[in-house]
Amino acid sequence: MQDQPINIKKIGVLTSGGDAPGMNAAIRAVVRAGFYYNLEVYGIYRGYEGMINDDIRKLDSRSIAHVLERGGTFLKSARSLEFRTPEGRKKAYDNLKSHGIDALVVIGGDGSLTGAHLFYKEFGIPAVGLPGTIDNDLFGTDLTIGFDTACNTAIGAIDKIRDTATSHDRLFFVEVMGRDAGFIAINAGIGSAAAAILIPEKKFPVEKLIDRLKFREKAKKESNIVIVAEGGKSGGAQEISEKVKKILPTYDIKVTILGHLQRGGAPSSFDRILSSKLGVSAVEGLLKGKFDVMVGIINNKIVYTPIKRAIIDDKEVDDEDLRIAGILST
Ligand code: F6P
Repeated sequence: MQDQPINIKKIGVLTSGGDAPGMNAAIRAVVRAGFYYNLEVYGIYRGYEGMINDDIRKLDSRSIAHVLERGGTFLKSARSLEFRTPEGRKKAYDNLKSHGIDALVVIGGDGSLTGAHLFYKEFGIPAVGLPGTIDNDLFGTDLTIGFDTACNTAIGAIDKIRDTATSHDRLFFVEVMGRDAGFIAINAGIGSAAAAILIPEKKFPVEKLIDRLKFREKAKKESNIVIVAEGGKSGGAQEISEKVKKILPTYDIKVTILGHLQRGGAPSSFDRILSSKLGVSAVEGLLKGKFDVMVGIINNKIVYTPIKRAIIDDKEVDDEDLRIAGILST
């Protein structure tokens, strides 16, 4: 990490990896802050793919009209295999240079930030990363862009499942996203009164789940919803439901995989505000010579963390959240 102000005139902004609600608000904030500091701002379309294919266009204030409130990313996103190769990155560098772009703001998850870090190491292009992922799995920020909206979306969907689960006295296994992290599952589980929350980070043996379900049966609970985070070693919602069905054959069991609907929709007010603060802080960080860093928010304060740490250090789930979830689900 360096911390010496440098002369930046043109910045490029891109979104990469899985889209997340709030990415548009973040791009808007980067563009607005860029104009405020008299910079030219270039949109790099389809993430690193667009950098390699020269899909790069200058943005003006019209490009960001009415995007704050929209889900997805108007710059589009991609996961680029070619950027993982030195040849791909060289092509990308040549394209940036041909536009005179001297710094980057990269909005995405750990793969996207790894790209920015490598690019800085190889070509010295200053880059600031923004944590854009619904998974909330990045160290160096309490919350990532899109996580709050994804949790709201999951909870909204589970509320609907609850209605039908209660009407039929059914046990539902609902699988949520998160790749190999359980943050969405924990929040969605607490926020939807789940009977149990299964996450990749912690063991939750089937026997314990059976005990919990039997206990709830005695307590005359009308419905049971078990939240399963994708990415667990014991499998997803389908696999776990099958194990439970073998032990509790009389239970009427259904499975719902929420999937990509968790990535869509208008960003929540929280995500709009978070993205806006982080976008402005990214540009200000670059101008202050803070690069190869990710800008995040910790205890409501803007914090710059070296990208290397943000991607390598583990963000742990909070045991206290799990303890509380356990109390609430009995
Ligand atoms: O990282 C965001 C995320 O939505 C994960 O939760 C999920 O595992 C993955 O992306 C899905 O990726 P794709 O859209 O490429 O299938």
